[in-house]
Order: sequence, then structure tokens, then C-alpha cells
Amino acid sequence: MSSSVNDEQTRDQWGTKLGFILAAMGSAIGLGNIWRYPYVVYENGGGAFLIPYFVALATAGLPILILEYSLGHRYRQGAPATFHFVSRRWEGLGWWMAGISFMIATYYVVILGWCLSFIWYSLGEQWGEDTGAFFIGEYLATSSGAAPEGFWELGGLQWKVLVPTLIAWAMVYFLLQRGVSKGIEMASRILMPALIVMLLVIVLRAVTLDGAANGLDVLFTPDFSALGDAAVWVAAYGQVFFSLSIAFSIMIAYSSYLPSRTDLSNSGLIVGLSNASFEFLAAIGVFAALGFLAGVSGVPVTEVVESGVVLAFVVFPQVISALPALNSVFGVLFFATLFFAGITSMVSILEAVIAAIREKFDLSRRAAVNWVCGMAGVISLLYVTEGGLFYLDTVDHFVNAYGLVVAGLAEVLLVAWIARTLNEQREHIDSMSYVKVGSWWTISLKFITPVLLGFMVVYGLWQEFAEPYEGYPGSGLVIIGAGSVLLTLLLAMALSLNSRAPHDDLVHAGKK
Ligand code: ALA
Repeated sequence: MSSSVNDEQTRDQWGTKLGFILAAMGSAIGLGNIWRYPYVVYENGGGAFLIPYFVALATAGLPILILEYSLGHRYRQGAPATFHFVSRRWEGLGWWMAGISFMIATYYVVILGWCLSFIWYSLGEQWGEDTGAFFIGEYLATSSGAAPEGFWELGGLQWKVLVPTLIAWAMVYFLLQRGVSKGIEMASRILMPALIVMLLVIVLRAVTLDGAANGLDVLFTPDFSALGDAAVWVAAYGQVFFSLSIAFSIMIAYSSYLPSRTDLSNSGLIVGLSNASFEFLAAIGVFAALGFLAGVSGVPVTEVVESGVVLAFVVFPQVISALPALNSVFGVLFFATLFFAGITSMVSILEAVIAAIREKFDLSRRAAVNWVCGMAGVISLLYVTEGGLFYLDTVDHFVNAYGLVVAGLAEVLLVAWIARTLNEQREHIDSMSYVKVGSWWTISLKFITPVLLGFMVVYGLWQEFAEPYEGYPGSGLVIIGAGSVLLTLLLAMALSLNSRAPHDDLVHAGKK
């Protein structure tokens, strides 16, 4: 074990507590808040969705977030070594989480590249009249016009996507090489306040557009019957997981860089609630803008509602072109907002992997960043091909629905039921924190979260077999989708095969 990595005196540290909170907020607030949340609310009961959302936040989101802070802070390691401390045979869970983060990073960076391109295309609204044809046909050049039959038509690399992806990689690489306080913290200190101001400007503009109220009506009109639908609850837990960056192993790595006396529960509450507020505001902005677009297009709001990639890169360019004034300015602002939100999440996703690799192989930061960015960079080229959109969508679906949720479930089962260290963690949190976590924390992690996450996995699998995701070919779903999850599992098993004697030394030295 490298003393340069783990020695308390020399281990990377946040410069200030505010720096840590901003970096943790930067990790949580990402693409998922802007393009995923608004649609999830709309699809799952509108205003009524806030009930399962806040239940999911209170019973899984915040408790697991605070648990991960405690694990990272207590053991001062990345996820694999942390889980080894919790129970010797469970190092693989940490590697699995790191593997999932690695997979997510391989496509997340490509979306950052798209954002950079669209900042440029916003100048003079270069996407023209048909924004769908521009994005899918001209920019991504997706095989068979994105019809599922084109799944296996790999095609060549798209230089229009390759160049911005490489620029995004260069920025991410630069920040990671500079390290925790000079890179990630410095970027978060600048980007997070800027992001909040930019979002407020966009939301203020959106809600003052004609037709905004219709969009908000569609978004928030509650459909309380949705609360009886299992899918709505599953969506709420899924959103909370992705959005809070839970089970990515990020929060364990980030809190391992905290000084020894730090309030853990209040940091968790600040990050969790700011993330929720940010996505709530984003939903208001997005649906107000959709209400406006529906008005100028003379169609009902429900016809312009989209999620994810299509919402951001097809529908939003239409909104931007339809604005009465300052179109290019708002275009740049919107895509820069997405980019700022995304890059702070991207560096956190890779930092979790870098921390794990450094500790395992005793590497310098420079070497670990080179390895991790190099390997992820090569895999990310897959998404720069003509079939890239299919692979990105498939990996995203599988890794989120199965990787994150199963890893989160395993984490909770390990701590609460297998190693039975929940009380120790609670004592650790309470000894550090002004706000004591209380029995809701224990009850949530011991009973509510495992039951709900277990249900989510079974329900998701059942749906997978009932209806192939997006109508993609079974071979594609198995090889690319299930394959990416299995690959992370195999890697995790391989990496945890040899014993972690150095950690045992630390355990014996009284760190556990
Ligand atoms: N939490 C990050 C997001 O929402 C990963 O995009």
C-alpha cells in the first residue's frame, strides 16, 4: 500500500468543507437533473410524483448518501478497500461500483462532447428547421436514421463528434491530473455558483414566455392514481439513485478526502436537498419552455414532451429557435449549463475509479489518471460511431437499472445484515455531526431500502423480458447491455482475487 496514497498526512484532501460540499453537489447535479428528472415527473403522475420522490429521498437517498460519507470518512479509502474493511470478502463490491462508474464515464464524456458542439451550433442556430434530422442524421449520422434495425451497423468514427469528445476528454484529464483540491475543488468552486446563476436565468426566461403556464400545468397536475402503480415508485427510487450519485463509489472516495473532524449528516442533507431543489427548478424551466414551444407550434404540450437525448438536442434547439429574441445567447447558455453540470459529475465518476486503482496498484495520481482516462477514452470511441447512439442508450439503461441498483442493494445488505456494522456507522456519524441521524436512518437502511431495491430489480427484470428495451434487437441488449454489466462484475471479481494484505495491516494497526 502506497504511503503516498494512504498516509493521513499526505492523502489528498479538500481545501475547505465548502469545497467538499460544492464538489459533492457538482457530482450529484448532472445531466440527470436537467434532462431526466423533468420527464420522470411528467411520466409518473406529475405533481403526485413528488410524494414517492420525497419518500425515496428520505428512505434511501439521504440515508445511503450519509452512510457512504461515513464509510469513506471512517476508513479513508476508495470503495474496494472500504468494503474490505467492512467485511474481508466484500472488496469486490467496491470494484463493481468502480467498474459501473467507469462504464458510465465512457459514455457520459461523449454527451459532454455533444454539449460542446451545440454551444457552437447555437451561434446562429446552425441546426436549421429540422432539428431531429440535424442531430440524428447530420451530426451523429446514426445508422438507419436511428431505427432499431441499424443497431449493429457500426459505421466509421464521426469526426464531428470525435473532435468535441476529445476536447471534453482533455478538460476532464486536466482537472483530474491537478488533483482533489487544485483540480476538482477549484473547478467546482467556479462552476457550481455559475451553474446556479445560469439555471436561474434560464428558468426566469422560460416562465415569462407565452404558454409557460400550460407547460407547468401539464407537469404538475397531480394524478394521484399513479401512486398505486409500482412503476412510479420504481422510477422515484431510480431517479434518486442516479441523481444523488449513490452506489457509484464516488461519495466514498470524496468523503475519504475530508479532514478527520467533519460534520457528516449536515453535509449529506445540504447536498441531497440542493440536488432536489436544482432538479425541481430545472423541471419548471424545461416544462415552461415546452409549454411555449407547444403554443408556437399549435400542438398540445404532450406532443412536444421528450426525455433525455432527444429533449436536450432535438426539442431544445426548437425552443431556442422559436424564442422572440437573444436566441443564440440562450442557446449557448442552455448547452453551457448542461456542460457545466455534466463535467463536475464526470470528474467525480472517474475520481472514484482513480482512487480505487491508486490504492490497489500503488500508483501515482499521474499514472492512475493516465491509465483510467486512457482505457475509458478508447472505449468511448464506440459511442462516436454511427451506431454510437444505440450503444450509449443501451449501456445507460442496463448499467443504471441493474448495476447501480443491485450494487446499492448489496451495499445496504452488507452493512446492515451481513457485517452488521450499521450501529458502528451510526455512532461514527453521530460523533461527528450536529444533526444526529436517529432511528429513521437505521430503519430505512435495514428494512425499507433493501425491500424496495430488491423489488426494483425483480420488477425491472420482469419488464425487460416482457418488452425489449426500445425495440432493440435481443442480441444487442444481451451483448452490449447485459454484457457491460457482466463485464464490470467479472472485472470486479478478478480485481478482488488477490488478498489485500496491506489493508489487513491497517486493520491490525487499529484503523478498524
Ligand atoms: N448524478 C449525476 C447526474 O445526475 C451522475 O447526472
